[in-house]
Amino acid sequence: MNTVVSGIRSTGNLHLGNYFGAIKNFVQMQNDNNCFFFIADWHSLTTHPTPADLHNNVRQVLAEYLACGIDPEKACIYVQSDVPEITELYLLMNMNAYLGELERTTSFKDKARKQPENVNAGLLTYPVLMAADILIHKAQRVPVGKDQEQNLEMARKFARRFNNIYGEETFPIPQPFSFTGDFVKIPGLDGSGKMGKSEGNAIGLVEDPKDIRKKVMKAVSDSGPTEMNQTKPEAIENLFTLMNVVSTKDTYDFFNDKYNNCEIRYGDLKKQLAEDIINFNAPIREKFLNIYQDDEYLRKVTRMGAEKARESAAKTLEEVRRLIGFRKF
Ligand code: TRP
Repeated sequence: MNTVVSGIRSTGNLHLGNYFGAIKNFVQMQNDNNCFFFIADWHSLTTHPTPADLHNNVRQVLAEYLACGIDPEKACIYVQSDVPEITELYLLMNMNAYLGELERTTSFKDKARKQPENVNAGLLTYPVLMAADILIHKAQRVPVGKDQEQNLEMARKFARRFNNIYGEETFPIPQPFSFTGDFVKIPGLDGSGKMGKSEGNAIGLVEDPKDIRKKVMKAVSDSGPTEMNQTKPEAIENLFTLMNVVSTKDTYDFFNDKYNNCEIRYGDLKKQLAEDIINFNAPIREKFLNIYQDDEYLRKVTRMGAEKARESAAKTLEEVRRLIGFRKF
């Protein structure tokens, strides 16, 4: 059984792209791996959220993940800041992380460009904290998207470096976990590219049905096919890709035939697509709305998660301290 660690950005409002890209796989993974999923609230401090936002974001994303089917009985789900052992490992790892390599990471350079008024040391050492997150549980696998590959590469480097200095076998070198099976890239509604929060083209999993209808009706389309069985332009293909994941096969085939016969009415397709998205979301949204305001449940889940995570973290930290040379008198 593999130990899997993944951090979840504590910026909530997950969208369909997140669901089909990662969450669905997390829900699968928790069945046959030793999974640690945590809300990375320390990492979020690099952008200076207000105290109220910090808490609400954690609550939002936690409730969303639980609503999607992350099961606290199967996976260890916790809030990063509930596990102080991570900060100590972070401090220790910082001693063997070099300024040059940290300055060269693309995510640091990107963020320094995006927030030039706030190039703080936390941004610089972001990959070290991420390495501590992963190594504290001696993870073998880390499911990460493209944008996190370099950070994972840094974690692998720090693990190797520690092993070289203090003992070959301390940390397993964490492998990227590539999702197999029905991984689907969800497009946006703006005609091209993928669905993303920062792209402003996302449909939230727990979004109000009224807003979903509005967004889908406004999706980019075109003036319609002019030839039978014509290849679909990207914007139209995107609508069908969405339909393919949320609608029944009959619905998909119905509109696909209409398209191929040049009889398609995009208004009808969009109406149907909006209702099917709303239906797909419905059980997740309902669970979310319940969990979000259930303080007692959230307290129970986070306590249980923190306890399990700290037990695993403390074991690693004790070994690390001993290897580095800390001794009790
Ligand atoms: N940096 C990751 C992101 O932005 C979140 C994250 C923090 C993470 N710590 C991690 C992911 C450890 C995997 C493992 O998505």
